[in-house]
Amino acid sequence: MTRIRDLQAHIGQTVTLDAWLTDKSGKGKIQFLKLRDGSGFVQATVFKNDVTEDVFESAKRLTQESSVRFTGEVRADERAPGGVELAVRDLSPVQVSLGEYPITPKEHGIEFLMDHRHLWARHRRPWAILRVRDCVQRAVVDFFHGEGFIRFDAPFFTPNAAEGTTELFEIDLFGEDKAYLSQTGQLHAEAGALAFGKVYTFGPTFRAEKSKTRRHLLEFWMIEPEVAPSNHTENMNLQERFVSFLVRRALEECTEELQLLGRDLDKLRPAAEGNYPRVTYTQALDIIRQHIEDRDLPPNVQDDVQPVEWGDDLGAPHETILGYHFDRPVMIEKYPAAIKAFYMQPDPQDPTVALCDDMIAPEGYGEIIGGSERIHDYELLKGRIEHEGLPLEAFDWYLDLRRYGSVPHAGFGMGLERVIAWITGIDHIREAIPFPRMLTRMRP
Ligand code: 4AD
Ligand code: MG
Repeated sequence: MTRIRDLQAHIGQTVTLDAWLTDKSGKGKIQFLKLRDGSGFVQATVFKNDVTEDVFESAKRLTQESSVRFTGEVRADERAPGGVELAVRDLSPVQVSLGEYPITPKEHGIEFLMDHRHLWARHRRPWAILRVRDCVQRAVVDFFHGEGFIRFDAPFFTPNAAEGTTELFEIDLFGEDKAYLSQTGQLHAEAGALAFGKVYTFGPTFRAEKSKTRRHLLEFWMIEPEVAPSNHTENMNLQERFVSFLVRRALEECTEELQLLGRDLDKLRPAAEGNYPRVTYTQALDIIRQHIEDRDLPPNVQDDVQPVEWGDDLGAPHETILGYHFDRPVMIEKYPAAIKAFYMQPDPQDPTVALCDDMIAPEGYGEIIGGSERIHDYELLKGRIEHEGLPLEAFDWYLDLRRYGSVPHAGFGMGLERVIAWITGIDHIREAIPFPRMLTRMRP
């Protein structure tokens, strides 16, 4: 069986193709059939004179999304998107769609399309985005393999809150006890790093995000490398190598998909080069303040945006300003310790800030990575857990990592969908995953 993607190699030959009809036009003695088979899209032509009466009649009866087996000759056609066209000799419907297919070639609203995601997944735009997702997922595995990491899977049910208790999904364990859906694989990855040196997790994570934004999902996929021994600077170097590798791979392997999406590749290319700027949180506040004073704001930032007071977290508009200030991802390091997670190592030069960083994507895509050096001192970590009011019993295993052979170590988490949204240039994260889970969406 030949796939559309491979048709170029069969010019002049007769092939068999299993495909679905996406659109049809024609009159009199000719039918134009637009086909897809998952690997790509192609146009087929049925000339009345080239086929039997039966075949021509059944071509006319095909409805949108009917599944069909075709036999035909592959012809070079410069005007066609893939450079080829199929001249049909024979066809037999596997199924003529029952009733009218809901997603017609006219424009539909996004909510309608999302309600029909199980069908919409067949269309060009999701096809392109989700192929980029696949490409990036493979690149993640290749990158870490190339750097000598092993994949170390974290559990989805965990006894620990790690990224704040307000966004936890709680699970009732038969009334006996409770567990949570994992917000992060980090704590378990730390155990892995002390066992294997360099590990990464790659799995779904869950956050009970009650706000509706373009950047938040309830369920998203996170990649979390952890290295022991390591430190804050090495951690940022790793982030830069990693993200630039992913962008290079997407530019090399997904040209067709990115073009189909209309992605401005010139805006993406600098990210493939590395050399990501690094600025402290304190410097970042100055950059933001300056843009606000100069009224030099990106188009999607409101005029009444306020500067950030030292000690407050950056909001989405502030990240957008920073994202526009640089032509490639920027690492904002050394946030106030008080607004960051309990496990982050304080800066020995100034313990009010943490040895952490967030990577902010350009063009307003916001934070794509959060990472830090971890507290390795037993007493300090225990104190931080208590200070946060977290239950010490639940963290006893985690403290073992500081009881036995503790070393400075570091890691980070990258949200896959945020990165896919940025690379593909789409404006909402919901399209970066096959079936998004959000406050307002649990179906299909
Ligand atoms: O900054 P976060 O919360 O960091 C952690 O979870 C650390 N434990 C990671 C680590 O050091 N191992 O989340 C990391 C990244 C964010 O930068 C963002 O890309 C993504 O996860 N993320 C989300 N993506 C989609 N929807 C959400 N609700 C997200 N929350 C975080
Ligand atoms: Mg974060």
